[in-house]
Amino acid sequence: MKDRFGREINYLRISLTDRCNLRCVYCMPMHGLTFVPNDELLSAAEIETVVRAAVEVGFRKVRLTGGEPTLRTDIVEIVERIAGVNGIEQIAMTTNGYRLPYIAHDLKKAGLTRVNIHVDSLNKETLGKIMRLGSLDKAWAGIEAAEAAGLTPIKLNAVITRGYNDDAAAELAELSLRRPWQIRFIELMPFGGPTEIQLHHYVSSDEVKSWIEQKLGPLFPINNGHLDGEARVYRLAGAEGTVGFISPVSNPYCDDCNRMRLTADGRLRMCLLVEGEINFQKTLRNGGSHTELVSLFEKAVLAKPVGHQLKNGQFAENRTMSQIGG
Ligand code: GTP
Ligand code: 5AD
Ligand code: SF4
Repeated sequence: MKDRFGREINYLRISLTDRCNLRCVYCMPMHGLTFVPNDELLSAAEIETVVRAAVEVGFRKVRLTGGEPTLRTDIVEIVERIAGVNGIEQIAMTTNGYRLPYIAHDLKKAGLTRVNIHVDSLNKETLGKIMRLGSLDKAWAGIEAAEAAGLTPIKLNAVITRGYNDDAAAELAELSLRRPWQIRFIELMPFGGPTEIQLHHYVSSDEVKSWIEQKLGPLFPINNGHLDGEARVYRLAGAEGTVGFISPVSNPYCDDCNRMRLTADGRLRMCLLVEGEINFQKTLRNGGSHTELVSLFEKAVLAKPVGHQLKNGQFAENRTMSQIGG
């Protein structure tokens, strides 16, 4: 289904929990957090019901996010239920990868297509500084488990944050020389009552790209400069993999946006960076029918805003990234 601005909306991102086993500096504070109570989270069956309705308005791709989606003990069941919905062509997941060594094969068997894994540095000390409870060994074991299970092609996500992991860009990009992965750099976004770090430690994609080129030589655009999802993608000479830049702040891609998001507590959010939401959880729990859910989706697609207004200093304050899942 197309929205008011002619964009085909076919990608549903579902946050399964706002909890995480890590505390990346730009995402979650170390202390004082309150989480959505477990009974407010959508159950596996409720998620399946929502996806059945989503398919009818044209959604074809689902991505499971968090917080950390693998913290859900019913994660394999959730994937299995979504995979059983006719019309869903791809089920992906964005994860820090720490639990993948235990569940990657089961996820694949259940129908998960591929994973994007979050890792902000290849240096243990830097990783500890930016991802706080992070461990390079665990991230790496997760990446290898994903590969062994065939959850490919693998993309790695990093947020370059000034003063924390400035040195990480080139060494991460270098991985693309010998691995068939897409190494992506995401611009830091201000969110949920923007923090000092989000507002003052931002680095633009152009700057990250220049750091990489200084160390590793030119990045050549591929796809004729077209976006792959929301990433602009390049290749280093002779590389097996690619390097991508996601630039919501310096170069917004709202005109090409094809997605909406379900929050951990079952609110459908039309845009990551704009506050409007529609309460699916309430409709589900009041015994809402399939037809009612389908028409809620139609209403949501028609209500999708044109894009974010970061340039005009407007932030979405009501939710954190970990509740929406990026
Ligand atoms: P692919 O299916 O591999 O293209 O994945 P993806 O890029 O859609 O998913 P992923 O979770 O890896 O997204 C990476 C990051 O890009 C997110 O965590 C967000 O920070 C950012 N991002 C994704 N979608 C949007 C969006 O619609 N708007 C903005 N501003 N940022 C987004
Ligand atoms: N800006 C940009 N990306 C962020 N993420 C979390 N917080 C932010 C932020 N403030 C990203 C992580 C991860 C995904 C779930 O969200 O990099 O890949
Ligand atoms: Fe957890 Fe991802 Fe947020 Fe880091 S960015 S704290 S891994 S949800």
